[in-house]
Amino acid sequence: MKNICIMGTGYVGLVTGACLSDLGNKVRCVDIDLKKIRILNDGKLPIYEPGLQELINNNVSRERLSFSEDIKGSIRDSEVVFIAVGTPSDGNGNVDLRYVEGAAEMIAQNLNDFKIIVNKSTVSVGTGRRLKEIIDDKSSGKPEFEIVSNPEFLREGSAINDFMHPDRIVIGTNSEKAFDIMTEIYGSLYLMETPFIKTNVETAELIKYASNAFLSVKISFINEIANICDKTGADVHVVAKAMGLDGRISPKFLHAGPGFGGSCFPKDTLGLVQLAKERGITPNLVEAAIKVNINQRMVMVEKLKKLVPNLKGKTIAVLGLAFKPNTDDVRESPALDIIKILLEEECIVRAYDPVAMDNAKKSIPELNCFDNMMDACEGADSVMILTEWNELRQIDLNMLKERLGSPNIVDCRNIYDPKKMKDEGFNYLSVGRPLLKDEFNAVQV
Ligand code: UGA
Repeated sequence: MKNICIMGTGYVGLVTGACLSDLGNKVRCVDIDLKKIRILNDGKLPIYEPGLQELINNNVSRERLSFSEDIKGSIRDSEVVFIAVGTPSDGNGNVDLRYVEGAAEMIAQNLNDFKIIVNKSTVSVGTGRRLKEIIDDKSSGKPEFEIVSNPEFLREGSAINDFMHPDRIVIGTNSEKAFDIMTEIYGSLYLMETPFIKTNVETAELIKYASNAFLSVKISFINEIANICDKTGADVHVVAKAMGLDGRISPKFLHAGPGFGGSCFPKDTLGLVQLAKERGITPNLVEAAIKVNINQRMVMVEKLKKLVPNLKGKTIAVLGLAFKPNTDDVRESPALDIIKILLEEECIVRAYDPVAMDNAKKSIPELNCFDNMMDACEGADSVMILTEWNELRQIDLNMLKERLGSPNIVDCRNIYDPKKMKDEGFNYLSVGRPLLKDEFNAVQV
């Protein structure tokens, strides 16, 4: 059992804190945003993540997890300090290290004893070294400390399961002592023979960027294949399934759609491009993945135009705003990008999402949101399904047809069967699954 301080109570910090306390450590979470700490101490969550509230309640009641406004005291009382603060991007791939560096300075000012300083925030390669310089500089290197890079591979919406059942844990450090303490912290996961990758700080930092960039390339690849399917009559589901049966490829992250979003892939691909360019390397593949991804939003709008050729003044019901299901996160969400295009085309947009409407309205204040999916669809010229929420997989199709102005659906997440939709009387388009053979030549998607 270790005394741990987690700096930052966003998705990563909260999930890490809750899970490390569940593994038996004594964890204190702190944040410079005291509002978040107060919300947490009131027994509520500042974010939406399935299972997190229960895990937090359980560990708070066992006195293994707490939320403190006393940042200095929490650092001083801990042997291990995790940095899990935000690393926003300027949109050109430059990572804003202000919060990470601020956390490092606070640690330096409160370095009362030997500490392991673990960076979990996604940063460019070389940041660990920079943190060491900052802390050395501000603390004169005394007492001793070790820097560890321990990137996270949590997916929003399934973060707790990802934490508790990881494919691997990456520990980047030059210190045996730090590695031993890290394995103690992860306790049962280490004993369960989860693969631990022990490496240096720079390698750990690059593993994170490389993993996210590879998955992004994979998604853009299948989206490009889907676009080819649309023009050839092939079915991307079957292509992806058959490709995935090749163990060298794997079936995961081969779902075609409106392109990737979220707080990680868009930012980290740009970050890797920037990192490479700064070192004189042209990262062609990752740049292409970004380009395909941006264009994929437009591909979805072009599909809509097949059903509603003149968009000006038309009403479009957008179902799903979050960048993926089981989260209220709308950062870089394909849905919001597409809504912005629709608004530019002078469409009337009526939107619905089970949990992400408040966040969406912060980004697009004029967005017209409805508490009920069917109300959003009232009189619409077409529906666009943009997030694959389970609730949207079970729409009452008869009622939908009655409420719509025209029975048009663009299913950007491929959650309905094209044949069934046709039989139900919808004009239905999806991604990489063209119309039935006899119709294929009639309507080129
Ligand atoms: C991603 C990674 O999956 C995590 O391993 C990583 O820890 C995290 O970024 C991070 O760096 O913090 P996340 O952004 O939560 O996790 O979400 P994903 O499930 O990876 O989905 C990202 C985007 O790709 C979503 O917009 C999703 O709809 C899209 N996607 C995913 C597809 O379009 N097709 C797929 O086959 C898979």
